[in-house]
Amino acid sequence: MTGSEDDFTIPQAWHSYAEAEHALWRALYARQRALLAERACREYLTNLDAFDVADGIPDFARVSRMLAPRTGWSLVAVPGIVPAEAFFRHLAERRFPVTRWLRRPDQIDYLEEPDIFHDFFGHVPLLADPVFARYMAEYGRKALDAIALDALVPLTRLYWYIVEFGLIRTAAGLRICGAGIMSSRAESMHCLDSDLPNRIGFDLERIMRTDYRIDAFQETYFVLDGFEQLFEATRQDLAPVYARVKALPDLPANAVLPGDRVIHHGTRAFGTAA
Ligand code: CO
Repeated sequence: MTGSEDDFTIPQAWHSYAEAEHALWRALYARQRALLAERACREYLTNLDAFDVADGIPDFARVSRMLAPRTGWSLVAVPGIVPAEAFFRHLAERRFPVTRWLRRPDQIDYLEEPDIFHDFFGHVPLLADPVFARYMAEYGRKALDAIALDALVPLTRLYWYIVEFGLIRTAAGLRICGAGIMSSRAESMHCLDSDLPNRIGFDLERIMRTDYRIDAFQETYFVLDGFEQLFEATRQDLAPVYARVKALPDLPANAVLPGDRVIHHGTRAFGTAA
């Protein structure tokens, strides 16, 4: 598949990364791994450590050989954001597209587009978790269906609020599972420590109605009880779910509704919890 024109993949060409790029990766990795030690969920940390990628930019072929026997996933290199339908087809077929390029040193804390640090460090560890891996493939299938059902907006909110910015309840307390948080120094602190955002229990239809911010910290984080809950919610027939969601108004990112399972009521919330 690599290099074909319609799947948007390119060769990773791992040997052509410069030593300065490996050094920047090491710095990003060390800083963020230390910060996440008491913040990320166990499934994420265990699998990240098992990849053994602290010392430089990961070789996708090597990591794919580790993933394949565990969960059937592999990694493919892409030049940047992949068109939606091609991206969903990769997910449905258990290939995760990872951007080839690494940010510049002056972009260490802010990026407009995902780079290899976000895509790999944020997303790939949970692809080694059997339940989350099944969920991601199911998401890809459901997204291909959603194109035909004109339902990509609500389904994309599920990706945003969980795959990118999700939290998960654990015996040790709230932990991070979202990739957008994992790769962000500032948000990995804000999401758990700040009083500003809401933290609300996972509810598929509630998430599908909720707008999100792409230019600032999230105003609401949704909290999973576990990855099984996410998989079960996603594998049901979503056509009736979309019909219900489309019949209701969209919600602002800081909304709190009477029916919400409120874990923390943010100090900038709109509305009140019952
Ligand atoms: Co991402």
